[in-house]
Amino acid sequence: MKSKASSPGKVILFGEHFVVYGVKAILCAINKRITVTAEKVDGNKISIKSNIGNLELEPNKLISEIDSPLKPFYYLADKMIKNQNTGIDIKVESDIPLGVGLGSSSACCVAGAAAISKLFRDTTKKEILEMAIEAERTIFENTSGADCTVCTYGGIMAYDKKNGFTKIESEPNFHLVIANSNIEHSTKSIVAGVKQFKEKNEDEFSRLCDNEAKLIEDVLKILKTNSVGELGKKITENQKYLETIGVSNDKLRDMIQIGQKTSFGAKITGAGGGGCIFALTDTSNLNQTINELQSKNYDCFSVKIDFKGLDTF
Ligand code: MEV
Repeated sequence: MKSKASSPGKVILFGEHFVVYGVKAILCAINKRITVTAEKVDGNKISIKSNIGNLELEPNKLISEIDSPLKPFYYLADKMIKNQNTGIDIKVESDIPLGVGLGSSSACCVAGAAAISKLFRDTTKKEILEMAIEAERTIFENTSGADCTVCTYGGIMAYDKKNGFTKIESEPNFHLVIANSNIEHSTKSIVAGVKQFKEKNEDEFSRLCDNEAKLIEDVLKILKTNSVGELGKKITENQKYLETIGVSNDKLRDMIQIGQKTSFGAKITGAGGGGCIFALTDTSNLNQTINELQSKNYDCFSVKIDFKGLDTF
């Protein structure tokens, strides 16, 4: 028996890092996906194959002793086959660049939870999301849960840790130009760095959280009017807060500056420290923005919002 699920990657439009401390963030799913195929097989093995490597282990291993980025899959499979006489083969295919802040690991957890659990029982999206967040915690304990949430439900949404998500009903017609610094980053260590910043600068951090919260409220109003220019100004403003907490660097700043020349606004998306930036465009400045970034040899591509979210088949 085989089952398959696919989940989109994501862009955090506003509020990364501050969302870890309870501030609302605004995210959207993007039209790049991860597909996971799971199959029950004879034998006592959990086997995972992906383009970042393979992992094959017997069930019942201690998660803390597994040193592999594929361990969320092992965690999910091991949990599901308890007291069942079966092994599991898992295959992961991705068109999301991996480890650069576009939600590849959350999409893996969501599509993995859906594909693996479907071998055993029917599940709701809510249950899949809970399993996915649990699996993500095996590699990044302090996750806010925002990324897995948007990878599950798709579309554009506001999210906070306490109240969960609220879908934003307008369907903004923008294009995001993503530029990849090709600097790998670890979300876990960048989030730890921000924690240190917060502990050393409590008052400043609390002011920044207030500013971010106010900015998000403004953005929610702007999204109702579909004014891409106004939205762009808020993106550029949000980038200043990310600079202050120390998650930017020279390469990201250079890409942002180039992006800001022709687009409505540009900022880091995700943890920063490496990974990607995005520039907000529409059809009037999409090609020009891509050309500017490519002329400086930056690796870039455009994405649109994915409204489907998790898909099982
Ligand atoms: C990472 O994509 C987003 C962060 O805000 C961490 C999190 O929300 O868990 C940096």
